This record gives sequence, structure tokens and C-alpha cells, in this order.
Amino acid sequence: MKFRAAFLITAVVGVLVTGSVSVFGGDHTFVGAAKCKMCHKVQHTSWLQTKHAKATEVAKASADKTFGAECLQCHATNNDESLAGVQCETCHGAGSDYKKMSIMKDREQSIGAGLEIPTQATCERCHDGEDHHTAVVKEDQVNNKEAIHEFKKP
Ligand code: HEC
Ligand code: HEC
Ligand code: HEC
Ligand code: HEC
Repeated sequence: MKFRAAFLITAVVGVLVTGSVSVFGGDHTFVGAAKCKMCHKVQHTSWLQTKHAKATEVAKASADKTFGAECLQCHATNNDESLAGVQCETCHGAGSDYKKMSIMKDREQSIGAGLEIPTQATCERCHDGEDHHTAVVKEDQVNNKEAIHEFKKP
């Protein structure tokens, strides 16, 4: 009986914790850009036109660099060739736990569930200024509009 009670308490606490704010940021899984498109058609259409969307193809087709698995950390999403391109979740965090409307409509809850608002550090994971990986300034609105997606909010 004692064991059972302890198990129940752990389960209830677990649900409360994961239901509100996720404590373990790394637990969220990647769902792919098609899922985001359902509600963010403007951003998705615009992103498709960017170099980020084609980053995997471009690396594979490179004439002067030999493509290998090590390219994927910057030329794919989550280092995974099946998530081709620098997709939404590369910059906004893995979406499994925030993509639901009930969570997404609340900014604070979304962030608690893994949504990331990109900062300069986000870009520097790949644009580190070394080799061919040029540095970029996140606040550069002109270049970023071409490179990321068009912003609804200016
Ligand atoms: C079921 C609909 C739905 C899905 C699916 C969805 N979102 Fe959202 N998202 C919303 C709503 C609603 C808002 C809040 C209103 C707004 O700003 O458009 C929002 C806001 C956002 C914001 C702005 C946060 C802020 O306050 O600056 C980002 C970034 C975002 N979503 C990214 C994503 C990504 C990435 C995915 C896919 C993993 C995704 N969303 C999937 C509905 C959705
Ligand atoms: C540390 C991150 C990173 C790694 C690893 C990386 N790239 Fe890149 N790559 C970038 C960035 C950032 C750009 C965009 C540079 C720009 O145009 O400003 C880019 C651009 C490119 C381009 C287009 C522009 C050009 O220089 O021709 C090709 C092709 C390319 N990378 C191929 C590869 C290949 C092949 C590999 C693996 C051998 C690789 N990259 C590894 C970050 C990376
Ligand atoms: C290369 C990084 C990057 C990628 C890829 C990216 N975004 Fe964004 N996104 C940003 C940045 C930067 C902002 C502005 C954040 C801020 O407010 O400072 C933003 C803002 C947003 C917003 C809120 C502003 C708006 O436009 O309404 C939404 C929603 C959004 N992104 C959805 C998406 C979706 C959906 C995708 C994929 C189709 C995507 N993003 C791909 C970097 C990215
Ligand atoms: C996962 C790695 C990654 C992240 C994170 C990333 N980028 Fe990129 N970015 C790339 C790659 C790879 C390319 C080149 C794609 C190509 O040339 O095909 C690129 C291209 C660009 C370009 C176009 C350069 C040109 O020659 O036209 C700009 C601008 C840019 N990124 C800005 C940003 C900004 C701003 C952020 C942060 C909000 C960001 N990127 C985040 C990998 C990344």
C-alpha cells in the first residue's frame, strides 16, 4: 500500500509539473515545418523562399566542399537530414509541446513548453564567423527579412 501511494503522488506531481511549466528543456521533440504551416501560413510561405529552407540541398550539391554528416549541424534541423533545411524549430525550439492552440495562444505557456524567441546567440550557433560560416547581426531587419521570413509585426 505504501508503494502504491508513493507512486500515485509521484504521478500526480509529474502531471502538474509537465502540465504547467516544463522543467526539462531538452525533452521536446521536433515536429517539422509542415505542422507550423497549419497556423503560420504567412511565415511558412515566406520562409520557403529563403536560403535557410534550401540549406540541406545546397550543401549536398556543393562543388567545392565535400558533403558529410558534419555539415548537417548547420545545414539541417536538429542535425537530422530528414528534417531538411534550417526549419522553424531550429530558431524557435522543438514544437511537440507548444504547438497546440491552447498553449500557443499564451506566450508565457508556449515559452514554458519550449518555444524560443531567437536572440543573437541563436544565429551564432551556425553563423560563427569561422570558415565559410559568415557572422550575421540578428537585428539587421533588411537582410533578415530576406533570410528568415517576413514578419507580420514590423
Ligand atoms: C494550432 C495553431 C498553431 C500551430 C500548429 C503553431 N502555432 Fe505558433 N502561434 C499560434 C498562435 C495563435 C500564436 C499567437 C498569436 C500570434 O502571434 O500569431 C502563435 C505564436 C507563435 C510565435 C510568436 C511568439 C511571440 O509571442 O513572439 C512563434 C515564434 C510561433 N508561434 C512559432 C510556431 C512554430 C515554430 C510552430 C511549429 C512548431 C508553431 N508556432 C505552430 C498558433 C499556432
Ligand atoms: C558551423 C556551421 C556550418 C557548418 C558545419 C557548415 N556550414 Fe555551410 N554554411 C554555413 C553558413 C552560416 C552559411 C551561409 C553563409 C553566408 O552565405 O553568409 C553556409 C553556406 C554554405 C554554402 C553556400 C555558400 C558558399 O559558401 O558556397 C555551401 C555550398 C555550404 N555552406 C556547404 C557546406 C558543406 C558541404 C559543409 C560540410 C562540409 C558545410 N557547409 C558545413 C554554416 C555551416
Ligand atoms: C533563422 C531563424 C528563423 C527561422 C528558420 C524561422 N524564424 Fe520565425 N522568427 C525568427 C526571428 C528572429 C523572429 C523575431 C523574434 C523577435 O520578436 O525578436 C521570428 C518571429 C516569428 C513569429 C512572430 C512574428 C510574426 O511573424 O508573426 C512567428 C509566428 C514565427 N517566427 C514563426 C515561424 C515559422 C512558422 C517558421 C517556419 C516556417 C519560422 N518562424 C522560421 C527567426 C526564425
Ligand atoms: C542551424 C544553423 C543556422 C542558424 C541557427 C541560422 N542560420 Fe542563417 N544560414 C544558415 C545556412 C546554412 C545558410 C546558407 C544557406 C545557403 O546558402 O544555401 C544561412 C543563410 C543565412 C543568410 C543569407 C546569407 C546570404 O548569403 O544571403 C542570412 C542573412 C542568415 N542566414 C541570417 C540568419 C539569422 C539572422 C539567424 C538567427 C536569427 C540565422 N541565420 C540562424 C544556417 C543557420
